[in-house]
Amino acid sequence: MKTLQRTLTIIKPDAVRRNAIGDIIEQFEKNGFRILAMKMLQISKHQAEQFYAVHASRPFFNTLTDFMSSGSLVVLALEKENAVADLRKLMGATNPANAEDGTIRRKWATNIEHNAIHGSDAEDTARFELSFFFAGYELAK
Ligand code: CMP
Repeated sequence: MKTLQRTLTIIKPDAVRRNAIGDIIEQFEKNGFRILAMKMLQISKHQAEQFYAVHASRPFFNTLTDFMSSGSLVVLALEKENAVADLRKLMGATNPANAEDGTIRRKWATNIEHNAIHGSDAEDTARFELSFFFAGYELAK
């Protein structure tokens, strides 16, 4: 039986600054993702640290959280069969130098830090990340 899955994606400040929001959302829709919820917001450094807490010990944690709190983000809750893996495929590799043609990062990412888009890396991460940005009533679809 095929089951629907939900995932969280963030259009990052570099992509927002480059007017890539519309192009990236079009890719979600063309590739069969249903948009359940969407909002544009800016987060604080502290909120970015909470969101990326799993990376707290990494050398890039400080620059990552500075960057993610540096401007507007667009966060979306997406639904599709196999949404977590399919979104990561559509995004392309974290480092755009390794991203395949036709992926969002290949087109819009500048480097491994300014890489245009985030997507949850597993189903349990998606649950945490969806609940970080959206209240239950916003996802009650
Ligand atoms: P994202 O999918 O948002 O998840 C964590 C982010 O950390 C990742 O995208 C990159 O933007 C960033 N990141 C991962 N690895 C590195 C690295 N080696 N150097 C700098 N930034 C990194």
